[in-house]
Amino acid sequence: MCGIVGYIGKEKCLEKIINGLESLEYRGYDSAGIAYKVKNHIRILKKEGRITNLKNDLDLQQDSFIGIGHTRWATHGRPCQLNSHPHQVGAITLVHNGIIENYEELKKELQYEPISETDSEVLAAYINQMYQESQDILSVLSTLEKKIIGSYALGILVEGEDKIYAIRKDSPLIIGRSEDGNFIASDVPAILQFTKKYQLLLNHEYAVLEKDHVIIFQDGKEVEREVLTFVGEKEATMKNGFAHFMLKEIYEQPKVIYDTVQCYIKDDYMNQMAFLDEFDAIDIVGCGSAYHAGLVGASLLKKYGDIPVQVAVASEYRYTKQFYQKNHLLIVISQSGETADTLAVLRNAKEQGIHTLTIVNVVGSSIAREADQVFYIKAGVEVAVATTKAYTCQLALLSLFACYLGIKRGILKEDVLSLYDDLGSQIETILKEDALIKDVAQFIQNKNDIFYLGRQVDYALCMEASLKLKEVSYLHSEAYAAGELKHGTISLIEEGTPVISLLTDEELFLKTLSNVKEVVSRGAFSVIITNQEIMDKTLYQKMIQLPKTLDLTGGILVMVVCQLLAYYVALYKECDIDKPRNLAKSVTVE
Ligand code: F6R
Repeated sequence: MCGIVGYIGKEKCLEKIINGLESLEYRGYDSAGIAYKVKNHIRILKKEGRITNLKNDLDLQQDSFIGIGHTRWATHGRPCQLNSHPHQVGAITLVHNGIIENYEELKKELQYEPISETDSEVLAAYINQMYQESQDILSVLSTLEKKIIGSYALGILVEGEDKIYAIRKDSPLIIGRSEDGNFIASDVPAILQFTKKYQLLLNHEYAVLEKDHVIIFQDGKEVEREVLTFVGEKEATMKNGFAHFMLKEIYEQPKVIYDTVQCYIKDDYMNQMAFLDEFDAIDIVGCGSAYHAGLVGASLLKKYGDIPVQVAVASEYRYTKQFYQKNHLLIVISQSGETADTLAVLRNAKEQGIHTLTIVNVVGSSIAREADQVFYIKAGVEVAVATTKAYTCQLALLSLFACYLGIKRGILKEDVLSLYDDLGSQIETILKEDALIKDVAQFIQNKNDIFYLGRQVDYALCMEASLKLKEVSYLHSEAYAAGELKHGTISLIEEGTPVISLLTDEELFLKTLSNVKEVVSRGAFSVIITNQEIMDKTLYQKMIQLPKTLDLTGGILVMVVCQLLAYYVALYKECDIDKPRNLAKSVTVE
């Protein structure tokens, strides 16, 4: 949700800021803007649409050494030049990521009439009013939280000062450090072209950046903060010859899943997982794909771990009364580690004394810092807005939890872990032999409605497959519990309606197959993705055959097929695959 980059230093700032914004475009991309100082004057340029529009109108070589930039995902006010950031009121120029919930009340206190529809301009005016009274921006920042309800990461320029001020509450912001100057950014990838060194700005903190030093304040007092080094290569944030980040990330799966699994089975797997013995019940919470991963994980944990598991979307869970048991574990799943609803669930549970564990990708993210226990997946930087490799790494890690409990309960043998040895080459075969997937994509690209059918784990996988297709190709699709179809939705099946059935659950195979028969006899164009043998060729027009494996890893294989299918449909429809309309990668607002 919105990306912020700022730079102050000895080198010219515009190219750095634009470059940083480009790598943050996944956070929002409906308009962009920049404020930069030239000879003591702050210049502002804002453009509707992508960052290229801004870049094209900017002389990147201007002598400017301080600036703040922003790429927007609209919350208050439509995407247009007027509503885009930076907002300037009086002595204050700022860029904002987050939502100011009490902006209507703040507005009433202003002696200023906002010209945009945004909460951010109201905030700029409010800060300016406070600043005019005290003439001391640090004291304004130290009291801001008492006045503002909502979330904010801010980069601020103050008229007449060669400094950047930064503050955050419930929205992410990091500080980049380099020999020639210092940065603020919503996320580390924004600064990787220039430096791998960064400091975390923690929740409720603010900072002042000058060209050669940075001071971070907590509760009004200066604090020391370790300088961290990004582990990995900046190439991780480049396409490396792939047409899209989504395809690159799909192709990275053999490696990143291997890295994730190895991280936990290499040394003393049974000991690393032994904490699970302490719990009698588990809740798993996440949003979107992370929630879908939780559904698959719950199915495996119940089956092999023999433990009650509930799964919920974070935006609902946070407002639902919970009946925690004595030894209850809350697992929150998040790629970014910044999703507002998931973070709120984590905080609520901690307040209630519940042990919290996170499965998370981004190191040092808010969720990673605040959870009692952290299990990192090793997906690396995920740039495409639609998640692929982080989701399958989440599945891999959840299956390792289920394996452990299965081994402990005598349902599985310890050699079950050898399943993971074959996974990489099985995924590679799917990636290489994608002709059939492309065929199906060609067929469905012009259809209006697609149905995914499955039961149990297959149903959970259907939900993710359907989400993937919808978000990148804009095709309408629905995931259906196969047994539920005839309770209404089957009325939508007509001649040629694509129905994609996932059949990997051996026990329920015949049941789902009966549902496939029901749609085929109503004219559906049937596509089956399965690791079982199906002799009756009248049941499908296309069948994608997967290797037979346990459900512990089978879901990952299914999903690679479904990701490729979504990708190719979007490609044939010429969609903006890495940045689908209206979406943003990191959802830091409620
Ligand atoms: C879908 C997608 C989203 C995210 C969701 C949660 O492709 O990426 O549904 O899964 O917004 O995000 P994280 O995992 O960052 O908490």
